[in-house]
Amino acid sequence: MGVLQALEQRQMLVVTGKGGVGKTTIAAVLGRRLAARGRKVLLLDVDPRESLHHLLDVPPSGGEVVTVAPRLQLQHLDPRRLLDDLVREKLKVGVLVRRVLSSPVHQHFTEGAPGLKETAVFGRALRLIEGHVPRGMVRPDVVILDAPATGHSVAWLAAPRLISEVISSGPIGHMATVIADFMADRVRFGIVVVTAAEEMPVQESLELIDLLDERLQRMPDLVVVNSVYPPLVEESDADDPVGALWAHRRGLNDRELGRLDEHWHGSTAELPLLPLEPGPPLITALADHLEQACERS
Ligand SMILES: Nc1ncnc2c1ncn2[C@@H]1O[C@H](COP(=O)(O)OP(=O)(O)OP(=O)(O)O)[C@@H](O)[C@H]1O
Ligand SMILES: [Mg+2]
Repeated sequence: MGVLQALEQRQMLVVTGKGGVGKTTIAAVLGRRLAARGRKVLLLDVDPRESLHHLLDVPPSGGEVVTVAPRLQLQHLDPRRLLDDLVREKLKVGVLVRRVLSSPVHQHFTEGAPGLKETAVFGRALRLIEGHVPRGMVRPDVVILDAPATGHSVAWLAAPRLISEVISSGPIGHMATVIADFMADRVRFGIVVVTAAEEMPVQESLELIDLLDERLQRMPDLVVVNSVYPPLVEESDADDPVGALWAHRRGLNDRELGRLDEHWHGSTAELPLLPLEPGPPLITALADHLEQACERS
């Protein structure tokens, strides 16, 4: 089975990697690609900057469900609000809920407890997959989560397991265990690592792959090497500074692609740097490149 066919089987995909390498772009590309192949896709944005809608040319979600195209929806989530919702849902008694939500202990706990907000995000995604969807949302076959740019990706992905180990009983502990078990399921849950063919991003991606293995006993389903300089069409004149710069950048890309290849033996897709502004034409063009790259890999 090809890697894209494998990704199509997943119910949840997390797109992660170092800041600025193109995670949000690749989340949108995957969303478009899977929706075009008939899957009902929900893109979840947890970035406080609300970045996904720009790329798909739809209005910002502000927490509402936005329909991008047939079978493609988008929603922005505020992790803090998800946690408050969780308290509401688990406590149910109005007066208790108000007391807990307004207490400084709750506020300190939810801000400070490592992994709680992350677990709430995964918990919401899982509930949506199970069909507990808000009005106006189509039940998704697959949720694609664009991981936040802040913090370490492994800490984010390991949060539910950590919470389930620390809080072993009660509704939160139970929820965290269910999520952690879901994330251990290689058929239902997938990870896409985005990187660039540059020294630091490649180094960090290799470390991320090792940590995923160590902490979650997981490998990425796919490593996307984004924004690779396309090879020059013709040999450039050594005196042409633009050609020389281009050849130099491409040379660095080749060196780092080689280093990645030495250490990572799973699926890789190289995507070119395209002369396009962020928006639907960029997403469509990258979706075509992804298809071709996955056929080659
Ligand atoms: N292959 C590409 N060709 C051209 N432009 C690209 C490509 N990939 C990404 N970009 C552009 O690079 C910028 C950064 O991409 P993006 O926002 O997807 O990165 P990110 O990893 O989500 O960043 P952050 O860590 O800040 O969330 C955007 O302007 C995007 O349009
Ligand atoms: Mg982003």
